[in-house]
Amino acid sequence: MKKILVIGATGQIGSELTMELRQRYGGANVVAGYIQGAEPKGELRESGPMELADVTDANVLAQVVKAHQIDTIYNLAALLSVVAENKPKLAWKIGIDGLWNVLEVAREAGCAVFTPSSIGSFGASTPHVMTPQDTVQRPRTMYGVTKVTTELLSDYYSLKYGVDTRSVRFPGIISNVTPPGGGTTDYAVDIYYSAVRGEDFVCPIQAGTYMDMMYMPDALHAAISLMEADPTRLIHRNGFNVTAMSFDPEGIYAAIRKVVPDFKMSYQVDPLKQSIASSWPDSLDDSCARNECDWKPQYDLDKMTVDMIEKLKARL
Ligand code: SER
Repeated sequence: MKKILVIGATGQIGSELTMELRQRYGGANVVAGYIQGAEPKGELRESGPMELADVTDANVLAQVVKAHQIDTIYNLAALLSVVAENKPKLAWKIGIDGLWNVLEVAREAGCAVFTPSSIGSFGASTPHVMTPQDTVQRPRTMYGVTKVTTELLSDYYSLKYGVDTRSVRFPGIISNVTPPGGGTTDYAVDIYYSAVRGEDFVCPIQAGTYMDMMYMPDALHAAISLMEADPTRLIHRNGFNVTAMSFDPEGIYAAIRKVVPDFKMSYQVDPLKQSIASSWPDSLDDSCARNECDWKPQYDLDKMTVDMIEKLKARL
């Protein structure tokens, strides 16, 4: 049986990934790692063990891994793109110094490590349409710099020390549970909250700006199935392009109006978000993930929209 530590278990992805892993492997086998001020609550707190696991503290990480005999770490500690642009030093400290600590602990304890990369690892000089798996990665955001470094450092630990590191390049993740904080793709979550609350939505991203996106159930599946994939099939490791859909603000607006016909959207473009969004791919080619670990998403834009609105309506 696997013994898993999720670092960042109360974050946007971590809060749902931890619950999904507990369903699959048993609550007692999945430790929710959190930082001070972001303690697990409710079901997350009650369904399994929790430990303070700050990536910037290598000793604490080593103790948690030893105490729970952890063999797999999902390292989700990171700042999203807009926040990282405003706090570049902290983004590096969490994303890279923190990753270094995780990889060192994993090397000593023999753990496998999943650390997500992102569409943010690409930049303006990357081919934007059907962005290949192996291509130019010269981002000009601190978020992107940390994500490219994440990929390189993770590959280094795999090649040099045999640490089983694996990663996907997540697109914008859309969920009806924990809202994201400070990402460029957040508009694609916020728009659903406005639609369900009966409010007009002011879009910070210009019409015609396409980005890859994915519904949370597919994101969880992408991470877990990669960690379960047969290593002999993996030609790539850090990280795989994965995507489920690509749309611009007009596309998601039209999809929502099929369900909420009187919903209204206007634009007030945020220059920082727009410059980041414009530098990212319009659409990823994820054929390597499809071939090497059988990646296949379940949700397209329309199917996700129906589910998002139904779940948010029930909750709000
Ligand atoms: N969702 C992230 C962001 O917008 C991209 O991976 O920062």
